[in-house]
Amino acid sequence: MRHLIFSAALALGLAVGHPDLSITAANAQGVNQATFNNDGSVNAPTDYRSWIYVGTPLTPNALNGGKAPFPEFHNVYIEPSAYAYWQKNGKWAEGTQLAKELVLIRQKGKDEMNKDGSTGEVSGVGYFQGEFAGLELTVKDNKRFAKEPGGWAYFSFGHNKPPYAKTAKAFPAKDCNACHAAAAADDFVFTQFYPVLRAAKPK
Ligand code: HEC
Repeated sequence: MRHLIFSAALALGLAVGHPDLSITAANAQGVNQATFNNDGSVNAPTDYRSWIYVGTPLTPNALNGGKAPFPEFHNVYIEPSAYAYWQKNGKWAEGTQLAKELVLIRQKGKDEMNKDGSTGEVSGVGYFQGEFAGLELTVKDNKRFAKEPGGWAYFSFGHNKPPYAKTAKAFPAKDCNACHAAAAADDFVFTQFYPVLRAAKPK
């Protein structure tokens, strides 16, 4: 009980002192966000697999004329304090970070793989996750990225197996931001493909 009262008092104190409580909370939980350098580059997030997992679109080669730009699973994660803010407000906090890790379809011996790249496993025939194959990040920060539409900047740490690049510079808006602006359901984020975020959005 004593502990509870203390926590409540602390939370209240923080809330009054820092309107950005939702963002500082992540560090209190010990889950790291991506950090930035003076030249505007970002350091690859290290804890993104401990963020909140929101969904996995898949665009296999077999369904894209043999050549999908990203034939892998796209595992998407949101940094926990941004998730908490979304749950409460149904909007993206300043400082929101989402990571997308690409994962190859599970590979097996040639004679064990179907023409469409699927494999038969104990649960049935389908696509199963194999090896990691790339990492991307998007950050909403209207101060740091004042020139980007919506304040959203987009980064890639490589479309290859780990280790990924340690830092990245933001892409020009036409390369990434423009498609997100035009087609994403919720302020540049593709929530139409993320059931976890749809379920968390306040009604
Ligand atoms: C032609 C449209 C298009 C372009 C261009 C594009 N994206 Fe995306 N992006 C998507 C779609 C659709 C999703 C939803 C998940 C998926 O299918 O991968 C997505 C999801 C993401 C996510 C996960 C969070 C979110 O916003 O939903 C990140 C991170 C991301 N893209 C980074 C990038 C980067 C970096 C670039 C530029 C190199 C880029 N995107 C260019 C369509 C696009």
